[in-house]
Amino acid sequence: MTTLRLPGLIDPHVHLREPGATHKEDFGSGTRAALAGGITMVLAMPNTQPPLIDDASLKLAELGAAEKAVCDYGIYLGASGDNIETAASLAPRTAGLKFYLDATFGPLLIKDLATLREHVARWPKDRPIACHAEQMSAAAVLTVAQLENRAVHICHVSRRSEIELIRDAKMRGIAVTCEVGPHHLFLSEADIPRLGSGRCEVRPRLATPDDQAALWANMDVIDCIATDHAPHLLSEKDSANPPPGFPGLETSLPLMLTAVHEGRLTLDALIDKMHTAPKRIFNLPAQLDTWIEIDVDAAWTIRHETTISRCGWTPFDGKTVRGRVQRVTLRGERAYDNGTFYAHPGTGRNLAPAHQPV
Ligand code: DOR
Ligand code: ZN
Ligand code: ZN
Repeated sequence: MTTLRLPGLIDPHVHLREPGATHKEDFGSGTRAALAGGITMVLAMPNTQPPLIDDASLKLAELGAAEKAVCDYGIYLGASGDNIETAASLAPRTAGLKFYLDATFGPLLIKDLATLREHVARWPKDRPIACHAEQMSAAAVLTVAQLENRAVHICHVSRRSEIELIRDAKMRGIAVTCEVGPHHLFLSEADIPRLGSGRCEVRPRLATPDDQAALWANMDVIDCIATDHAPHLLSEKDSANPPPGFPGLETSLPLMLTAVHEGRLTLDALIDKMHTAPKRIFNLPAQLDTWIEIDVDAAWTIRHETTISRCGWTPFDGKTVRGRVQRVTLRGERAYDNGTFYAHPGTGRNLAPAHQPV
């Protein structure tokens, strides 16, 4: 057994369903899933019920997180047509501003160019902007960020056209970063017949094998691996109207370690994409005395039944992976050890500047 010690991983893209849909996940269950996956810091998305677009809704998430989180976290504010004038004043309490430029789960959606531009112009330049921006939307947001002279982060890139756009933009010195989800690296539309169409609903959709190959071929363009952990119950996924999204917090590191094992990625690149780069891009403080220990050789099979996330399933059920999280130490304290959680609810800290001790 080879035990390897890595820094606590940072996942800049998770949906924890609190407030509003805690039957799927809440800050407790979601951050426990994170620890089990070797992740010690999560940035939570704002497409909750209600969506996090103002002081009152943000407070609901802050309170739930303060009470329940077992790993550190930040919370995004959602950009909407209703908060153009107020969003910037909330920036210090947030991990960043999230734009939904394409339809997905929940009501947040901006299709109006003037609204997009106004939001980007007003948001503080030193606070992150993350965008759900597929295809043409990716080009639109790159243009707007350029004109407003600021950096932008593109979420869950899934297609050849998008990763090549970002590659070429970076080559021209444009301040763009991006993330890719393990599901787009390890699954494609070729897996839909096997898994079933409802369970495969996700935005961006599972792409073609050619798109998938383009992501692997452009691994050096991908800044971060982010799960886009999007828990929905199996009863919902198997219904007539399946919501889009896959859980991912527990499977991301084992899948990426399997890629290391297979020689498709170096361990240094994994650490960069799952710790160093997200920390830099999202201006996150160091987590002192925080690390994870993994058995890099352990082979195990992912199963629905052992899922910690409240959603209780995984699209990777039956897949054998290499690499298992043994222990997680958060601020010098044992937080997780071989299946047992030691961190108490509320141990997690909000890492937004307004919540930092001065
Ligand atoms: O598949 C997705 N699910 N994509 C998103 O952008 C949102 C997410 C969710 O919240 O369920
Ligand atoms: Zn998204
Ligand atoms: Zn998402």
